[in-house]
Amino acid sequence: MSDKAYFYDWNKTFEDNADNGPFNMDLSGIENTGEPEYDFLGFKVYTPFGIPAGPLPTAKHTNAAFKLGYDVVVYKTQRTVPFKGNEFPHILSLKLDGDLTMEKASGQLVGDQNYPEDISKLTITNSFGMPSYGPDFWVDDLQKAIKGAGKGQLLIMSVVGTIQEGFTPDEYYNDFAYGAKLAADAGAPVIEVNLSCPNVATEGVLCYSKDSVLEICKRVKAVIGDVPLLIKIGYYTPAQQEVLEEIVDAVVPYVAGISSINTIAAAIVDENGNQALKGEGRLKSGCCGAGIRWAGLEMTKRLDEIRKRKGYDFKIVGVGGVVTPEDYKHYISHGADCVMSATGAMWNQYLAKEIKESL
Ligand SMILES: Cc1cc2nc3c(=O)[nH]c(=O)nc-3n(C[C@H](O)[C@H](O)[C@H](O)COP(=O)(O)O)c2cc1C
Repeated sequence: MSDKAYFYDWNKTFEDNADNGPFNMDLSGIENTGEPEYDFLGFKVYTPFGIPAGPLPTAKHTNAAFKLGYDVVVYKTQRTVPFKGNEFPHILSLKLDGDLTMEKASGQLVGDQNYPEDISKLTITNSFGMPSYGPDFWVDDLQKAIKGAGKGQLLIMSVVGTIQEGFTPDEYYNDFAYGAKLAADAGAPVIEVNLSCPNVATEGVLCYSKDSVLEICKRVKAVIGDVPLLIKIGYYTPAQQEVLEEIVDAVVPYVAGISSINTIAAAIVDENGNQALKGEGRLKSGCCGAGIRWAGLEMTKRLDEIRKRKGYDFKIVGVGGVVTPEDYKHYISHGADCVMSATGAMWNQYLAKEIKESL
């Protein structure tokens, strides 16, 4: 793959990508013309399409994405402390027929390095552990990323709290607020908090606990003032509809939008049935790409239904399995105000261009 161009080269370590990427990119030739007409969170953008938190770990990466016509770009989730993340490799291709249903995700999936040619069949697992060089690096770099947005383009900063030795839930929630404050002070026009991560108060993932989500939103909003806040959440099964609605009701005073979905977790094994990615707690990892499109679309539709029924006006960022212009259009028709692609844009850097040409 070395002659092909990628925002993020999955055959290289995270550090190599962050320090030396993006690789082989031809950044010429994709320009927005005319005036940006579309309003997203109070900002005029050309096309409400971009790349979510993940494949773009530095300003060099976000700037490349802007140049290639991705108009809403998220800087990879950062922490308030330096954090090493998981052992390499971080990405595997999944052997999967069709959708990654919740039933399939509850079993085991085989992962290896054989990626299909046809990206409409590409479902991957990613397991980074959210590495971060810490604020000494990213606060300055974020300012470069913000400057890289052209006319009609928007940079969003994603932050997360870090559970540190002896941390109480209170300290964990405050760490989200501290990260968000650093981002706001650096000039981030919009801030997203990644809530698809472990909870400290209870077992499980933050985004399924109303109390934790509400506490984080309150504390973040208190320190970022007028900067719009997005929350990034995972997939809620139909059985979790009640908790989803309770969370939406609770956070509506604080959030400007909801970004959904993150990945769907599944146990990943090699062809002999052994844990595929080495390291403690790494049997299960997040799956993304074409196989989770159904879940992202379904969540977009359900959030839009809640929004209409209750008269709310939060924005919906539809994420999950967007690999073609048709996928983008499906998300818009299901109620998304903005659509993003991580896996699709990693494998096809020209996805934004193709979407714009198809409109
Ligand atoms: C390489 C990679 C790294 C990711 N890192 C993050 C992250 O740091 N924070 C986050 O909120 N989501 C992260 N994600 C999840 C994506 O933002 C997105 O929600 C998910 O991949 C589903 O979209 P997709 O099917 O287009 O890949 C990452 C995804 C990928 C592929």
